[in-house]
Formats: sequence, structure tokens, C-alpha cells
Amino acid sequence: MSVLETNALSTASEEAVTEYILAQEEKDQLRFLTCGSVDDGKSTLIGRLLYDTKLIFEDQLAALEKDSKRHGTVGEEIDLALLVDGLEAEREQGITIDVAYRFFATDKRKFIVADTPGHEQYTRNMATGASTADLAVLLVDARNGLMVQTRRHAFIASLLGIRHVVLAVNKIDLVDFSEERFNEIREDFAQFANGFDFETLQAIPMSARFGDNVTIRSEKMGWYAGPTLLEHLEGVQIGEHELNQPFRFPVQWVNRPNLDFRGYSGTIAAGTVQVGDELVVSNSGKTSKVEKLLTPEGEKPLARAGEAVTITLEDEIDISRGDLLAASGSRPDVADQMAAHVIWMAEDALMPGRSYLMKIGTRTVTAQVTEIKHKINVNTFEHVAGKQLELNEIAFCNLAMSSPVAFDPYEANRTTGSFILVDRVTNATVGAGMVWFALRRATNIHWQALHVDKQARSDSLGQKPAVLWFTGLSGSGKSTIASIVEKKLHLEGRHTYTLDGDNVRHGLNRDLGFTEADRVENIRRVGEVARLFVDSGLITLVSFISPFQAERQLAREMVGEGEFIEIFVDTPIEECKKRDPKGLYAKAEAGEIKNFTGIDSPYEAPQNPELVLNNVGRDPEDVAEEVISFLRERGYLLSPSIVSAGGGI
Ligand code: ADX
Repeated sequence: MSVLETNALSTASEEAVTEYILAQEEKDQLRFLTCGSVDDGKSTLIGRLLYDTKLIFEDQLAALEKDSKRHGTVGEEIDLALLVDGLEAEREQGITIDVAYRFFATDKRKFIVADTPGHEQYTRNMATGASTADLAVLLVDARNGLMVQTRRHAFIASLLGIRHVVLAVNKIDLVDFSEERFNEIREDFAQFANGFDFETLQAIPMSARFGDNVTIRSEKMGWYAGPTLLEHLEGVQIGEHELNQPFRFPVQWVNRPNLDFRGYSGTIAAGTVQVGDELVVSNSGKTSKVEKLLTPEGEKPLARAGEAVTITLEDEIDISRGDLLAASGSRPDVADQMAAHVIWMAEDALMPGRSYLMKIGTRTVTAQVTEIKHKINVNTFEHVAGKQLELNEIAFCNLAMSSPVAFDPYEANRTTGSFILVDRVTNATVGAGMVWFALRRATNIHWQALHVDKQARSDSLGQKPAVLWFTGLSGSGKSTIASIVEKKLHLEGRHTYTLDGDNVRHGLNRDLGFTEADRVENIRRVGEVARLFVDSGLITLVSFISPFQAERQLAREMVGEGEFIEIFVDTPIEECKKRDPKGLYAKAEAGEIKNFTGIDSPYEAPQNPELVLNNVGRDPEDVAEEVISFLRERGYLLSPSIVSAGGGI
């Protein structure tokens, strides 16, 4: 046998051993979640599983007995729900409010269970728990049958890629262990879940409180021949794991303690990686081979999904936090637009055109929903048209990101195919998304490089372009001041243009009204137009109420650093009402105009405007002069010779 052959053989057997170990470690673990509506008995069921699999220690039991008496929800018996409803506040309210993970094991399998709340407004927690689960136990109260939440949760489970479902028909003791009632609910559900892609669907009649058919076969339901819940959980065959998926590694941070070392740290999202594997930096397309894999336990030849590692590469290539390292033979999509399902989790509706932070892997970009293709009625699965997305609603949307990001379709990878949306002002998580596919439309449109650029144009105009963004209530004096400012600039020989709300709404934006969604779109378009005007070298005055911080921020980011000057015309509403130049406040107060800013539609004052103008009792000429002085002081009105020092084209 040649040296070469020996090597090949030992490599092959090493691989086989590694594979075997991985399979052993992973094979017997099942992640599942329980869901259903309030009072269906989820916590009791999990408590029962833990209790019967003997995971509760003596001292915990003693505390439980005491607690059960104090709360008194089940008389003198032990209330198993108390075991899992950890938080005192939850107990007092009688609802579970966060996702709690529990671990238990039998001879056959290890289990991780996510206990998710059933209360309607907590759909988001359900989504959190479901995103890593292999199986969902959907609880139904035998007396009530399927509820709105049961349907919603089944739908979300399916959307989140769960392929195995147990329909736990609980509290069967309260319907006299009726076979007829059980069959009725089972058939109802089977019909409802028909279109879902569930691989297994097992209905089990049970009483979590008394333990019937949870871990021990009930003697009271001779008519039921199926498995107990635990038997089913132990036996159900789950599909391939993320270990078998292509390697994905979102870079959490670049570890560079000194010039000699450069490692990329993070948690492996999918697949396995070995020293010598070729990896690609998804965004740039640059490749290199793995030099070392460093883990808390030391250097390793191989690492797998779920492990925290630091990877070093053979070549020095540009990689930063947020990049996705992937197997070079199986690359993710890289695009700046995508189609995705979005679950909305905030009281304030999602507005197309509004910019949110999108966190996808370790990457954060800004993103907008460019179109709600359709909303989904979770009871009938009908596709419904919608201009905005309300709390707990689900829609299929197109999204646009501020720069290309790497991802996989959710179907292929639940980690790299999901994202969250974060409100830019409050920093709260407002939505969760599952990627369906990358939209190629933008990939094929490239920025046309033009010979004459912004610099060249502003040089020849002899000025520094900027947006003067006037925001404030209707009647605050924005347009009056902007108009005088423009006149003064014009007299100085500056090149300007004014975009005024009332005027633009007659043309470009004549299809828009005053709902929140329309205002978001109104400002988005004006921001885009202002960007073009700045690019043309003009000092651009924008005079729109622009009531929302998020869109003003978006407009700010569309132009360069220092090119956006937010001017808050801070006139109190009482004064605006007194002036009421167009008689609109009177009409709004009489209920003749709806969604009027300051009356029944909000105005969010700027937090850090470049300039605040108070014009109550002042001559508008003076107020306008204040703006001119500001521009002069900040170097926006330097003499042409200084501005053009950089030379033309
Ligand atoms: S914005 O909120 O979308 O920025 P925009 O500045 O374009 O508003 O238009 C505001 C102008 O439209 C007001 O100055 C007023 O003349 C008129 N208008 C008509 N209906 C309303 C309304 N419901 N709320 C505010 N302004 C209104």
C-alpha cells in the first residue's frame, strides 16, 4: 500500500468516526414547543412531563406543595403549572409572558422544550420559541375545540418551518373522556391543516392535570390506540439537522490582539467546518482556506453548528463584523432586495417606505418594506390587500436594504434565512421575517457612472449643495420662512430650489392623502427628490410638515454628511390654530378634516435639529436671517473661489 493510499484511508476513517460522533451527539435530541390559547394547560403539561420524568427534586416539590396551597388554583393537589410559570407576576395574572426553555431526558432522547405564551398579543414569543423547534405541541381544551389562537399558532408553526405537530386534546376528563368529541376536534384540525406542509400530525387525547396519556397510558380511554405524548416524542423521526447544511458563520467580531494574529469569532450557524476548508466572504466573494479553529477547549480540527469558535484563515482578506463566512462550494444569496414573510409585533403599524433596522445574522442594515404584496388572514388563509401591517398580522412583502446582505431562503436555513426588524427611534424589536427569495431586479441595475458628478456640478455653480429641511406643524410658518430664505440666497447669487408640501402634493404626490402610511410615502419621495437636487448642486429647501422622526432620519441618510440641515419651526399649536391661514384647524376641530396633524394625527418633534426657530411675535425676515447666518457660520455660503478650489472636471 502506498503512502498516498494509507493517507487516504486514514482520512476516510477519521471522517467516518467524526460523522458517527456527531450523529450520536445529535440524534437523540428533540426540540419542541408547546402552544395554544390561555388556559389550555400548557404549563401544566410541561410540569407533568418534568414531574413524570422525575426531574423535580424533593425540595422543589415541597416548595411546590406550599405554593399550590397559597395560590389555590387546584385545591389541595399540586399545581404543576406553578413549576413552569416561573415569574411571580405571571402567576398573579394567570398568563405566561415569556419564552422559557426546559430540559429533560429519557433513555431514548434528550428534550428541550420552549414554553410559549398563549395570550393573543404574545404571538411574537411563539415565533421566538418556534424558530428553532423540530416539533410543536398544540394544545386544545377539549371543551372549547379550536380557537383563533390555535389556528394562528398552527399557521405560524408551519410558516416557521416546523414539520411535526402533535394536537394535544387536553382536559379530556372534562368531556367525560369522549371519543366522539376527540374525533370531532381531530377532524376539524386535519381539515384546517390540510394545506400545511406537516410531515406528521398526531392527535392525542389527554389530561395533563391527571397524567392521562402524557407519559402513562390512560385506563379511561380504551378506545384510543395511539401513543402517549412521551412515546410519540421519543419516537418521532425528525428530518435533517442544521449540521447537514452548508457551512454558515456570521462574524461576530474580528479578534485582533496584535499585528500577528487575526481571527474571526462567532457561533457557527449551520454545517461543519474543518481545517483546510475553503470559505468565501459572502459579500465580497473573496475566498481563503481555514488555517486554525480555536475553541474554548483549545485548537480543533473540526467544529460544528452551535459551537463558538475563532477561525483564522491562510490569507489576509478583508472581513469585518457582520460578514457571513460560508462554504465556498455552496454560497448564500447576496442581494439588496428580498421577498419575505413578516410577522409584525408592535402596536405601531408597519408602514411601507419607513426605514427600520434589519438585523440579519450579525449584520445590521437599514431596510424598508417597499411593498406589502398581501396580508394573510390566519383563520381563512385568504390573501388580503393592505397598506400597512398591524400588531400580530403576517404579510408577504418585498423589502429593500441599504446595502447588499448575505442570506439563505428560510426554507433552506432557518438561521441565515431569518431576520428581525427594529424600530430606529425606540430600539424595540417590532417584526420578525422569514426570507422567501432574493429579488434580482436591483442586482441587474447598476449605478451609472456619470462623467459630471456632484462635485463637478457644485464647483461650476460655485456653492456647497445642501438640504434645508423645514419641519413643523401646519401653519407654523415653514413655507413663509423658507420662501424668504430662498429669496435672500437668490439675491446672493446662490442656486436654489424649493420643494413645498402643498405644491408637490399637486403633482408628484397627488395620489397621496394624510394617513400615516401616505405621509411616510410622501416624505420618502420628497427625500429622494431632495437627494437628486442636492446631487445637481442646488441648495434645496424642503418645506413639509414631515411629522415622523423615522422619515426625516431616512431623508438625512440619503444625502452626504453635513448636507442635511434640519430646521425645526417650533411654533406652538395654540399659535398655529390662532393663525390658521387656510382655515384648516377650524375644519379639523369640527371633524371635517380627518388625520390633521396636531389634532388627531401625531407630530414628533426633532430630537437634535441643526436649528430651532421660534417665530412667535417676530418678523419673518429676522427669522429667515437667522437661517442665513447659520449657513454662513457653518461655511455653506463661502465665496465661489474658495468652494471651487478643488477644480472642475
Ligand atoms: S406631511 O405630513 O405629509 O408632511 P405635507 O407637508 O405634505 O404633510 O402637507 C401638509 C399641508 O397639507 C398642510 O400645510 C395643509 O395645508 C394641508 N393639509 C390638508 N389636510 C391635512 C391634514 N389632514 N393634516 C395636515 N395637513 C393637511
